[in-house]
Amino acid sequence: MDAYIPWTDELLTGVEAIDTDHKALICLMNGFFAAAPHGSDAITKAIGELVAYTKHHFAAEQEIMLKAGYEGLKAHIYEHEHLVFRLESLIDRMMMIGAKGVDADLVNLLRSWLIDHIMGFDKKFADFLRTNTAP
Ligand SMILES: [Fe+2]
Ligand SMILES: [Fe+2]
Repeated sequence: MDAYIPWTDELLTGVEAIDTDHKALICLMNGFFAAAPHGSDAITKAIGELVAYTKHHFAAEQEIMLKAGYEGLKAHIYEHEHLVFRLESLIDRMMMIGAKGVDADLVNLLRSWLIDHIMGFDKKFADFLRTNTAP
């Protein structure tokens, strides 16, 4: 089946560890969409994997920022917390109305949830890392 959110190299930040995680996140998100027609067990499993990997990625990213002395760390952590809150709210809503809750609205929300964050916050940090790390 077609990926709902195809990977594009426009999403590359140039920080290998972060890009690897982002590819995995998009893969898990598409796995979640693919699971949607297959009932609640498949959906619950896919959501669990997506949430766990999201939290793992955010923690790993914050660790890199901390080590790099990134001045935008606090704002970035706040944004990550906000994203997790939004993700969990969407999941709650979906759990209440079932698989039919995976509609275009949810797909669009998740797409902007991930893509906008990478294109904005994550790329800003990657730029900082590039200009503040000795070659
Ligand atoms: Fe981030
Ligand atoms: Fe990220």
